[in-house]
Amino acid sequence: MTKYHIQGGKPLSGTITISGAKNAAVAIIPAALLVDGVCRIENIPQISDVTLILQILQELGADVRTINRTTVDIDCSHIRNRQVPYELARRIRASYYLVGALLGRFGWAEVPLPGGCDLGGRPIDQHIKGFEALGAKVTLPKGGYIRVEAPEDGLHGAHIYFDVVTVGATMNIMLAAVLAKGQTIMENCAKEPHIVDLANFLNAMGADVKGAGTDVIKIRGVESLHGGSYSIIPDQIEAGTFMAAVAACGGSVLVKNVIPRHLECITAKLREMSVEVTEFDDAVLVRREGKLTKTNIKTLPYPGFPTDMQPQMTTALCLAEGTSIITEGIWGSRYRYTEELTRMGANIHVDGAIAVVEGVRELNGAPVRAHDLRAGAAMVIAGLAAKGVTEVEQVQNIERGYETLVEKFVALGADMYRSEIPESAENK
Ligand code: EPU
Repeated sequence: MTKYHIQGGKPLSGTITISGAKNAAVAIIPAALLVDGVCRIENIPQISDVTLILQILQELGADVRTINRTTVDIDCSHIRNRQVPYELARRIRASYYLVGALLGRFGWAEVPLPGGCDLGGRPIDQHIKGFEALGAKVTLPKGGYIRVEAPEDGLHGAHIYFDVVTVGATMNIMLAAVLAKGQTIMENCAKEPHIVDLANFLNAMGADVKGAGTDVIKIRGVESLHGGSYSIIPDQIEAGTFMAAVAACGGSVLVKNVIPRHLECITAKLREMSVEVTEFDDAVLVRREGKLTKTNIKTLPYPGFPTDMQPQMTTALCLAEGTSIITEGIWGSRYRYTEELTRMGANIHVDGAIAVVEGVRELNGAPVRAHDLRAGAAMVIAGLAAKGVTEVEQVQNIERGYETLVEKFVALGADMYRSEIPESAENK
């Protein structure tokens, strides 16, 4: 079992460099399946979700070569297998991008239904609707797989209107459509920075994708994609997590390697909470000296406030003066972590999608669990801001998406460490 041990109550100070974006990397790496030749992908975050997806590509027959800590070369010219290994793919939500990529390149795929964080129901009906519109036959054979097959003459362009704004389906249909015959028009698309990043990657390899970052994306199918190199954007949510940590703990931190425009929704909320944020070209300086003040937050698709920042900001608001109201607009079940905060002395009342947070003067350290990735980040923030010792369990959920989180916080003056108890010792 791996745990984080945190002695809280110290302000944060110093400089932190943000890694590549998880939710871009987990789509761009499978997109290499569409490419004829070698693609070099730079600024890849070292997180377990990325390790898993690279491992899956290797199992399928891709040649994956590590160039340095953040760069890999991927050559998918000799893919042998289109059936994705069950045990690996079930552990990661983003395995659904293998469906779009394998379908687009080879016209056939069988992929385990995705796993990932438990945030309530996580349907994929819009992905299926999109694949079917492109002409694919979609079946759910027994054993937890989804099977997709293109017609004999291949996929064809289509007009698709998504019923809900979905990041996953927008990117997955983009993957399936870049090599389809004719034009695909997708409406009511998600607009997150990683959607633009995937489109930029595909275009750098020879695709014709226009409109990413707006409601309407138009894709003209091309014959093939060629190799090239591409650098992934910085992680908006990792940056936001450090910003929220400064809000909760106080101090002054320069957050480097960011695109400040992607952080605007987070910056605006922090300013409402009396946190000072100064924007530079590729960095933001975050300072909090006085008291935090209340605010209300509603999570929405980008450019609205990101659901993936909701637990971290709710945690900071536990220490703000006054009452804050949080409304979760994306996921049905993303407040499980509030029970852990309550055990640390927070005053939070949850009713469905709404959480009412009455600010308290202090939190007290306690043993807590990282229920999922962002809930885990919230537990770390709570521990850093609390009096006394906090032990965070189930940190494998955190390490799915944060690169060297402990080392990064320690570099900012946090008193924390990671311990690993071998399973054999635990069983004694
Ligand atoms: N939805 C449907 N049908 C679908 C797909 C989605 O009804 O076919 C609904 C969902 O139930 C949800 C909403 O649409 O209410 C948005 O879901 P979306 O498809 O955008 O989410 P996702 O692709 O499954 C990605 C991120 C999540 C992030 C969401 C929202 C990845 C691998 N995951 O999930 O990231 O919360 O977008 O921004 O990119 C995280 O990083 O911690 C995380 C959970």
